[in-house]
Amino acid sequence: LTQDNPLLTRRTPRSPSLEAWPKYDAAVQGLRNYWYPAMFSTQLGRRLKPVQLLGTRIVFVREAGRVFALHDRCPHRGIPLRFARRECPGTITCVYHGWTFDVSNGRLVAALTDGPDSPIVGKVRVPTYPVAERKGILWVWIGDDQPVPLEEDVPEEFLRDDANIVGWFRLRTGNWRYAAENGFDEAHAKYLHRTAWMLTFRHLPAWTTTNIVPIEPGQWITKKQSAVVLEDDYPVVGKWPRRRWWKRPNTSRYYKARTPAGTGTSLRLPGCLRVASFPSGNVSHYEWYVPVDERSHLYAQFLVRWTTSPLEKLVHHSKYDLYRKWLFHKQFNGQDAAMVEWVTRDDGPERLFRPDKSVTAWRRMVEKSVRGEPVPGSATTTPEAPEIGDIDVASND
Ligand code: FES
Ligand SMILES: [Fe+2]
Repeated sequence: LTQDNPLLTRRTPRSPSLEAWPKYDAAVQGLRNYWYPAMFSTQLGRRLKPVQLLGTRIVFVREAGRVFALHDRCPHRGIPLRFARRECPGTITCVYHGWTFDVSNGRLVAALTDGPDSPIVGKVRVPTYPVAERKGILWVWIGDDQPVPLEEDVPEEFLRDDANIVGWFRLRTGNWRYAAENGFDEAHAKYLHRTAWMLTFRHLPAWTTTNIVPIEPGQWITKKQSAVVLEDDYPVVGKWPRRRWWKRPNTSRYYKARTPAGTGTSLRLPGCLRVASFPSGNVSHYEWYVPVDERSHLYAQFLVRWTTSPLEKLVHHSKYDLYRKWLFHKQFNGQDAAMVEWVTRDDGPERLFRPDKSVTAWRRMVEKSVRGEPVPGSATTTPEAPEIGDIDVASND
């Protein structure tokens, strides 16, 4: 994908009249010092599970009900620890020469092929990453600082006890920033998704006047529409879009619908989009764009319904398995995936238009309020070997 485009510098050169986003441009492989969703809890069993996030290879281990994450690289000769064996509880043993690490802090506790008195023991440590297991999802903190509480990075209503979450983690081609831009992009939904099967009976407006406003300052930016024009007369094109008897405009049922997620489409750091009351009034869609490397991201898609009724929970799960997963998260969002991939491949300058203030508002938010350091594009990063005595504690609740 990026052979002709190794550094993904497609937005430079750009018009000098446009704003500059140096931090955003540098964050090719993501933003450190945030919590990211990595997988569903059910995806991690007894087997070790490797994942690459923010250019870093990580291996997840479940040990006596707790989950730990270590850098997926043996410090001896660099063999991935995903191949490790389990010699004794609480440890993993590198498959090559038997270096054995405590999964909770990454310390080398035995070097089996050098005898019990091996002098290297206690002198080496594999970097570890704090993990939280909440709402059936494994969250990992990737950063240099002490982790903030998970609640600071995950929408509060998403973590509520009555939130029932279904969804899908998919590896997608395309840089995470263009995925986030696409998610919040105001104009594309009204044109690209016109052919989505899920919207067969929906008349999408021709154009809208939209402002981007902060909500819960510092947390979300959201789209507020001041005008919605269902059809209009265009030069050359004439009347557009054509009205069809089977297509209805978005009914007030959707706009009025209230869930704990509020209403509207909103975006927050480090790349979490919320589409409240969509695709139906009592369900809200969330997606995270978790950077993997410069040309791919983990696309985490969730549908949440807030209820304590067992019947409504069953209906929510069944609707997802029967059609929402396929119509929404696969076909509808598949249209987005193709665009994100092509934007990533492109290396020309961009020429923005009015609705793109949604895109620039997101770039500005990253530029102004980002917590951590951007991860530049490069080969897979190797975290610095930590000092012994400086032990991370894997949190787990
Ligand atoms: S490479 Fe892991 S023990 Fe040698
Ligand atoms: Fe879209």
